[in-house]
Amino acid sequence: MLPRVTIYNLVSLDGRIDRVAESHEAMFLYYEFSYRWKVDAVLAGSNTIFVLGEHEPEETAVEAPDPPQKLPPPGTENLIYEPRPLLVVPDSRGRIHNWRLLQQEPWWRKIVVLCSKATPASYLDYLGKRHIEYIIVGDDHVDLRAALEELNARYGVKSVRTDSGGTLNGVLLREGLVDEVSVLISPTLVGGRRGPSLFDEADVKSNSGIIQLKLTHMEKVRGDFVWLRYKVA
Ligand SMILES: NC(=O)c1ccc[n+]([C@@H]2O[C@H](COP(=O)([O-])OP(=O)(O)OC[C@H]3O[C@@H](n4cnc5c(N)ncnc54)[C@H](OP(=O)(O)O)[C@@H]3O)[C@@H](O)[C@H]2O)c1
Repeated sequence: MLPRVTIYNLVSLDGRIDRVAESHEAMFLYYEFSYRWKVDAVLAGSNTIFVLGEHEPEETAVEAPDPPQKLPPPGTENLIYEPRPLLVVPDSRGRIHNWRLLQQEPWWRKIVVLCSKATPASYLDYLGKRHIEYIIVGDDHVDLRAALEELNARYGVKSVRTDSGGTLNGVLLREGLVDEVSVLISPTLVGGRRGPSLFDEADVKSNSGIIQLKLTHMEKVRGDFVWLRYKVA
């Protein structure tokens, strides 16, 4: 069975998903909101995770015991619900090497990495030593449909929310795997000629691939933010 997938992003009024989260308030609101609806798994893009740990040192003591999970920072306890969601990350190139930091975070009960037949064996070995479960689906990239089905079969995942940029969203949308698009619009105009949007792919040449949406929810949030939810038609 395929889980229900919701794409979730913080966007500026001019549709950019970068820079928009640079204010602490906006970032906090994005995460606070995401925990309003409880999902079984958070699907994060490897670039998103990579950017988070970019300035952290690569771990060396790979076989060290699993680190204890931290407590949520004061004021964020209400973001935790049980059972906590899985953190699922497609990383077929084996780029992320500081899982230990993520294992310490309190937000997830377990990390699952999605790999493909192209994932280096040395990376699978590293994940094994780090006690991180992985699923191998697809030849070059991760076969996301098969991965979602396997997450359901193996872990009973019925609902997924993304925490990713437009690249992963784009593949999910094009493969017809998205049920809902949820956006928190920040009262900002970022500008720029072509910034990353929540749906990034090779540039469109015609109207044939436009995805139609149906508005299901509209809410003004904390001052000037707006939360919109759409069903993929
Ligand atoms: N404003 C917001 O709401 C928000 C939220 C999250 C992130 N962001 C920002 O978005 C940026 C990162 O976004 P991004 O678009 O560069 O990357 P991303 O979506 O975070 O990561 C790309 C993902 O797509 C996968 N992928 C690429 N092609 C694929 C294919 N053909 N089949 C299956 N999987 C495929 C990659 O897997 P492999 O590694 O296996 O190739 C990777 O996991 C960061 O700057 C982050 O801060 C913004």
